[in-house]
Amino acid sequence: MKALDLFKTLRCSASSDVPDSTIYNLVNYIFGVSKIDVALNKDIIVDEGELRRVVYLLGENVPFAYITGHEAFYGRDFYVLPGVFIPRNETELLVELALTESFNSFLDFGSGSGAIAISLLLENTKSQGVAVEISHVGQLCTKYNAEKFEVKDRLSIVSTLPENGMFDLIISNPPYVAYELFEDVDYSVKTFEPLQAVFAEDPVMLFRNILTYSLSHLSHTGRVILEIDSYVESELKELALSLGFLYEVTKDLSQFDRICTLSASS
Ligand SMILES: C[S@@+](CC[C@H](N)C(=O)[O-])C[C@H]1O[C@@H](n2cnc3c(N)ncnc32)[C@H](O)[C@@H]1O
Repeated sequence: MKALDLFKTLRCSASSDVPDSTIYNLVNYIFGVSKIDVALNKDIIVDEGELRRVVYLLGENVPFAYITGHEAFYGRDFYVLPGVFIPRNETELLVELALTESFNSFLDFGSGSGAIAISLLLENTKSQGVAVEISHVGQLCTKYNAEKFEVKDRLSIVSTLPENGMFDLIISNPPYVAYELFEDVDYSVKTFEPLQAVFAEDPVMLFRNILTYSLSHLSHTGRVILEIDSYVESELKELALSLGFLYEVTKDLSQFDRICTLSASS
């Protein structure tokens, strides 16, 4: 087969809003064919069964991470199984802000693939973490990635918030979309990603649980750093102030309120 024909076959199978760069990544990742191979229209050998699989899944709008089993996050390649939340670019800001703080111990609530917890462990090599994840598939991915990146000795993975322990950092990208906004969410997200990773009956209640837990498990100089959506910002602020936290919000590149940083007020 010719490399350009492979590229065109996948290009035609994918929806038109998928950028060419993503198709090139897919061609490279799955078939080992580079952009230069396509430009030079090299002769290539392609596994027909694999091509049929990719064409079919692309045509059904299956996210690329579930086709390849991988997603890039904070400069690293994380293993992602269908059934686990696909880490997003905007969450890199959460990690970036966390890394401006000084911490030895941290807790990541809702670890998913482990992208946040493992990035923190790799960037702050003195730290120890606890990953809390309710989903079995999520726990499995966090564990696999912790082994892959050789940080499993510094990470414990649990299914509920631990009763014991004090943390310098409590971090979370929780499911913050209310179910009542279901219609507004992308087809691909609500069809293929785990609903309990994206939606909550009452997102503010989930934030309340994290903050109440933080009242007794955050060290004196510690920080709670949360990813949010703009629409919950004012309610979260009111909640945080009523619980006695100092509150700061950071906007993302699109100028949406995205990250809340809370600290003890005294
Ligand atoms: C938005 S995803 C974030 C995943 C990952 N931290 C990331 O940023 O890519 C939220 C995660 O929280 C988990 N989760 C939802 N409710 C939970 C609960 N009550 N306790 C622990 N984990 C929960 C979901 O299974 C999901 O993996």
